[in-house]
This record gives sequence, C-alpha cells and structure tokens, in this order.
Amino acid sequence: MERTQLTTSANLTREEVDFFMEEAERLRGKNTEDLKGKVVATVFLEPSTRTRLSFETAAHRLGSSVITIADPKTSSVTKGETLADTIRVVDKYADIIVMRHPTSGAAEEAINYTDKPFLNAGDGPNQHPTQSLLDIYTIKREVGGIDGKTIAFIGDLKYGRTVHSLTYILCLYNPKKVIYISPNELRVPEKYIQMLKDKGIEFEETNDLDAKMPEIDVVYMTRIQQERFESEAEYVKLKGSYIMTPETVKLGKESLRILHPLPRVDEITPEVDDMIQSACFRQVENGVYMRMALLKNLSKNYYK
Ligand code: CP
Repeated sequence: MERTQLTTSANLTREEVDFFMEEAERLRGKNTEDLKGKVVATVFLEPSTRTRLSFETAAHRLGSSVITIADPKTSSVTKGETLADTIRVVDKYADIIVMRHPTSGAAEEAINYTDKPFLNAGDGPNQHPTQSLLDIYTIKREVGGIDGKTIAFIGDLKYGRTVHSLTYILCLYNPKKVIYISPNELRVPEKYIQMLKDKGIEFEETNDLDAKMPEIDVVYMTRIQQERFESEAEYVKLKGSYIMTPETVKLGKESLRILHPLPRVDEITPEVDDMIQSACFRQVENGVYMRMALLKNLSKNYYK
C-alpha cells in the first residue's frame, strides 16, 4: 500500500479500508515509537474538538511531537496569507500535515504545495475521510460490518461531509439498503444517489424516521449545521427536525446501534446515552486508533 495522502474517501479501496481497520485494532490501547522523531502539524482553520484532539492524541501515542494552529484567528491567515503559502510554510516545519478548512476543495488544493503525508480533517461541506474510516471501523466493531446491513443517515445530509465520505465507503461493501432521512431542504446531493444507483445498492429517501426505525441496523445521526446556512431564519426553520429519544430507539431492533460524528445539539437526547444502542462515545475512542493507523502508515509509506 503506497498511499501517503488522504484528501477524500472517493479514492479509497476496500483493501485499504480493511487494512486501516485491522491496523486500528492492532494499535488499540497501545503506545508505540512508530513516529519517534517526527513532527505532526495540525492546521485547523475551522473549529474542532474531536478531530484535532484525537489526531494529537494519536500522534503523541505514536511517539511524535505536535505543532498546531488550533484557531485561525491566531494565525497569519487573518493577515490575508493564502492557503498555498500557509501549506508551503508548514511543509518546512512538519513531517506530517493534518488540515481542516472551511472551504470545499481546500484539501485538494493544499496537496499542490506539499508532497509530505497529508490528511484532510474536513473541508467545508465536502469530505471528512478520516471520520468515515473511524465510522466504518465502529460499525464493524458494533454490528460486525456493513455487508447485509441497513444503514440510515438522518439530519443534514446536504452539508454533512461525514455522510458524503461514509457513503463512498459503503459503496465498497454490500449493504442491504441505505436510507437517507432528512427534510426536503437538506437532501443528500444527487451525485451520492447516482453513485448508489451505479453500484446497484438499494436506497431510499424519506422524511419519516419513525416508520423506518424497525428495518434499520445502524442509525447515523447528524447535526443540523447552523454554520452552513446563509440565514438564521433558514436554520431555525429546520433545527430540531429529527430528535432521537428513548421512545424512538425502542421502535428499532434490539441490536440497533446509533452513531453520530458529534458534536450534537439536540438531535439525540441525553437519556439515549445510557442505552446500549448508543455507540457515540465508543465511536469517539475508535477515532484515536483509526487516526494512529492513518498517521503511522501514511508516514511509513513516505519515509521509507
Ligand atoms: N466529528 C468531528 O469532526 O468533530 P469535531 O468538529 O469536533 O472535530
């Protein structure tokens, strides 16, 4: 496996995804020296809790040092420095670059300015490939894999980059069915529907969560993302569209599992956290091991 950069889930192969999941499992709970002497830069030009801290935890657990831009307001981006120059500069300091950016396509642009190991930690509403890898890893651990299973995406499927990235990965496997449940205004972009059609994967788009609950194996809840809307009024109209309560969970199978990339606002009530069906915080932990697997192997492929 020769990959050194990851900007999108679109070009991941099933072999790679399986390898990263096996590697995450091997690294589970371990501290290693795989990145001893290396410097990982986390360049976060959009807010984050999980992705930045889990990448930094992963880097430390692999023995590397970490430098960070945690807030664009404290960087020279606020003085008008371009993405190109920011990446050219970080390339001179760090051995591995992890970047989050508010603009779709920023990760693809950034790799024009560095050939070093590079990971997209989310680019606007476009892609969040490392999240989708920790999501599929969580699905594998929780329900044994995606083959033959029905997965339902719920909430903001238009701007939800985690939904977009995970849809690419699902298409590498053989799910029974993919269900997209959203308000009409927040439907998944047509290109993802077309991809499912091309792959011959059964899918459905609907507004009705309760009616679908009995047939779902994995619920993937998402937040209605205020920051993606042009007006407050548009956001207020749609917020609270879907709320997962214990009563909703009880409409589903006993083996149902609920994932959420987090952060949540009100779309999963706190009472659900205590139910075995809620895998959200196990998903958070899995993120560290998946990011260890990615940092270790993209680096190994580059620094041979
Ligand atoms: N899941 C996720 O991307 O969370 P953060 O925005 O906190 O990084």
